[in-house]
Amino acid sequence: MRFILPVLAAGVATATPLAIMADSFIKRGVPSTINYSQMTLYGGFELAYNLTGDEKYASWYRSQIDALVLNDGTIKGWDYGKYSLDNYRMGNNLLYWYWKTGEAKYKSAASIVRQQINRHPRTATGGFWHRNPEYPNQMWLDGIFMADSFYAKWTKYFDEKNTTAWDDIALQYDNIEAHTRNAKTGLLVHGYDESKVAVWADPVTGAAPLVWNRAVGWYFMALLEVIQVWPQSHPARGRLIGYFTTLATALKKTQDESGGWWLIMDRKYAGAKGNYIESSGSAMFTYGFLKGIKLGLLDRDQYLAPAQKGYNLLADKYVVEKDDGTVDWEGTVEVGSLNSNATFEVTLPKDPDEDENADILQYYTSVPLAVNDYKGAGPFMYASYEIETL
Ligand SMILES: *[C@@H]1O[C@H](CO)[C@@H](O)[C@H](O)[C@H]1NC(C)=O
Ligand SMILES: *[C@@H]1O[C@H](CO)[C@@H](O)[C@H](O)[C@H]1NC(C)=O
Ligand SMILES: *[C@@H]1O[C@H](CO)[C@@H](O)[C@H](O)[C@H]1NC(C)=O
Ligand SMILES: *[C@@H]1O[C@H](CO)[C@@H](O)[C@H](O)[C@H]1NC(C)=O
Repeated sequence: MRFILPVLAAGVATATPLAIMADSFIKRGVPSTINYSQMTLYGGFELAYNLTGDEKYASWYRSQIDALVLNDGTIKGWDYGKYSLDNYRMGNNLLYWYWKTGEAKYKSAASIVRQQINRHPRTATGGFWHRNPEYPNQMWLDGIFMADSFYAKWTKYFDEKNTTAWDDIALQYDNIEAHTRNAKTGLLVHGYDESKVAVWADPVTGAAPLVWNRAVGWYFMALLEVIQVWPQSHPARGRLIGYFTTLATALKKTQDESGGWWLIMDRKYAGAKGNYIESSGSAMFTYGFLKGIKLGLLDRDQYLAPAQKGYNLLADKYVVEKDDGTVDWEGTVEVGSLNSNATFEVTLPKDPDEDENADILQYYTSVPLAVNDYKGAGPFMYASYEIETL
């Protein structure tokens, strides 16, 4: 839909894209679970509250979190033996509520997540497994967003002198960079298997074959998050900034004419059968450009126009107005996974002349789109906040 951005007067802004999206989710309702999808959406509520000052956003969000955090500071249904990076994303939201209210139960709940990180299984070089037992020795770009920016926030505010922790966090990013970044294109493939046994793993590097847009989007946002809390004096700071800016350069080059980005971003698959412009990755990159400009990491003259072009596509094409006054968010792929077995079960008959990655391309492009997917709507809200506060 075409938004007419209202002039923000003294912090009062009601009919903004960010607020309309937040209102729509409140009206529809969101099941309260510890799923990172919800946690990603809730980040948008932090911004809706910040932008408008309207308490309804804070109180709705808090009630969602309070359904999960018990008064004794434990997390309802938390599995202390389940090592899945996805579950750790929640730590960020718990810290938000601790800082906002000062209530100990939120910090206590966040500390449960922090302690689980200490026990999390690792690759031989110290990288966190994406999930135990499903994805042993595998690091995915997604996992960096799920675990490491929370790990960094916790360290910054409660454990700042812990050099072991800072080094450990940097190592996660360094491992991803060393194994998944293509030096020529500047893009990163979805993940790697350090043991090189997964069916998709390159026998020499362990790398996955394709660049999946949402994985790159999670990583791009995770770099922004970690840079904001990274100690000035720690040597990895410059490296992390370099990871962010070089990725931004690559993203600027791969932006489609329409303003969006392809689901599978490898250049040779732009326009390939089944591939399409996907909304969650496009929202993450648009947001990343805008936030990068705001933080002074990216040059406004170079990145503002692509960001605005991206935002216009998101608002025009993927935000769809409904008769009841709410909006839907469309065009987000449900999932993309480096499932070590099933990936190749969803394949077309093999043609010897076919591209060697045809089967995995077929997998990613065969996953359905979801309406009102939190993983796309959340990043759209982040981008809206940046556009509305430019
Ligand atoms: C999280 O939610 C997504 C849908 O948004 C679902 O596909 C996934 O299975 C859920 N994960 C868990 C661990 O519940
Ligand atoms: C919004 O964020 C800014 C910058 O962090 C902060 O100064 C301000 O107090 C926030 N406003 C609200 C209503 O939380
Ligand atoms: C494939 O892996 C999934 C988890 O990633 C597991 O649940 C499933 O049982 C596995 N299937 C086979 C046939 O091994
Ligand atoms: C410092 O960080 C390391 C690595 O995360 C952790 O094992 C250790 O418990 C931390 N120390 C403190 C005092 O929290």
